[in-house]
Amino acid sequence: MTRFIMAEENSRIITGEDKIFGINKQAQEMISKVGREKVANATIGSLLDDNGNLVILSSVVDVMKDLKPNDYAEYAPIAGVPAFLDAAVKSVFMDYTPKGYINAVATPGGTGAIRNAVQNYTKRGDVIMTSSWYWNPYMTIAQELERDLETYPLFNDNNLFNTDAFEEKMKEILSNQDRLVVIINTPCHNPTGYSLTLEDWDQVLCAMKKAASDQSKKIVFLVDAAYLDFAGDAKMSRAFLPKLDGLPENLLPLIAFSMSKSFTLYGMRGGALICLSPNKEITNEFKLVNSFSNRGTWSNGTRAAMVTLSRIYKNDTLLEKVVKEREAALSMLIRRGKAFQHASEKVGLVTSPYDSGFFVIVPCKNPEQVGEELQKDGIFTVPFGGKGLRVSVASISEEWCSIIPGKMAAAIKKING
Ligand SMILES: Cc1ncc(COP(=O)(O)O)c(C=O)c1O
Repeated sequence: MTRFIMAEENSRIITGEDKIFGINKQAQEMISKVGREKVANATIGSLLDDNGNLVILSSVVDVMKDLKPNDYAEYAPIAGVPAFLDAAVKSVFMDYTPKGYINAVATPGGTGAIRNAVQNYTKRGDVIMTSSWYWNPYMTIAQELERDLETYPLFNDNNLFNTDAFEEKMKEILSNQDRLVVIINTPCHNPTGYSLTLEDWDQVLCAMKKAASDQSKKIVFLVDAAYLDFAGDAKMSRAFLPKLDGLPENLLPLIAFSMSKSFTLYGMRGGALICLSPNKEITNEFKLVNSFSNRGTWSNGTRAAMVTLSRIYKNDTLLEKVVKEREAALSMLIRRGKAFQHASEKVGLVTSPYDSGFFVIVPCKNPEQVGEELQKDGIFTVPFGGKGLRVSVASISEEWCSIIPGKMAAAIKKING
């Protein structure tokens, strides 16, 4: 759309149909023509089984089915049901107790948490920062709130996390403004599947502490942990959390928690923004400003999602059941990721560093054309940022994960020579 009739564009770039949904529609059309088994729809950001059905944890559904009318019909408190907030914190931290103070506010999914973080810790016109490969809604949120989004290259020439670029970009932005929100999506970064190592974390925190030694600067780093339970070993993927303790007051860690993937309740919009600080006033202020944001946007969150999580965390047997069921889903995902990696190595297809998670990125020139070439073979991927193709290993079978790299290598060769 180039001109709005009644609506105001308000400096947002509103282009119409979401690209991913558009390609997904094409894949669906092909499925209805040639049959499901001949099509790999690797566009979807949800975990599907090998027959293309959404993986839904039945242990979670059972809890939902048991809810009483008041559990879903009543308003939730604006900041969220207290037992839910405790459960969200437990879900993130497991048996680790953070030092200092902690507070949480319920949000509609991780998306709501990201939105609130940007709204409350930057001003209109500010720049927020994330990595060069990023989940597109970060940009949507930035534009919606009249902020700009700038990026640093995620990987250096050795395909390692680019700490130097991270530090440089942060310094550059802080030379123009006194506040900064940095979004770090780990573990299982969308779209690459990269997880920051503990060494990466040390370097990132060292750079941020250095920047925060200037007391006039306020730095907030938001860990977007939407895929926290799909990174492999649950304890190892949380090993970075103690590093968020005891930071200077003007370096504030926030965590965006989401029930979408971990509890397969994508549509229930369960989430929370969590804050850690050595200063109680800062965590109290966090609660106040984020409750205000809730009231002024979606008001209260979905009570059913909140009560469901509270029930799961109140009952060890239930929690164990959920974790076991999730582990089975996770091992299916891990097998698919491995199959894709092995097949890529076999055919010499270069992917971005991938540890685990829903997506793999294959960097290439002319991704739109390469993507169209792949569609001739019934393979649907998402061209990403003009720099590569995103393959959702979460939504295709292990068998397809073994086939696609060869097809991609051939398509890249055909288009790019
Ligand atoms: C990187 C990333 N962050 C956050 C989210 C948040 O999802 P939700 O709002 O459903 O919790 C997603 C979902 O796809 C995601 O991919």
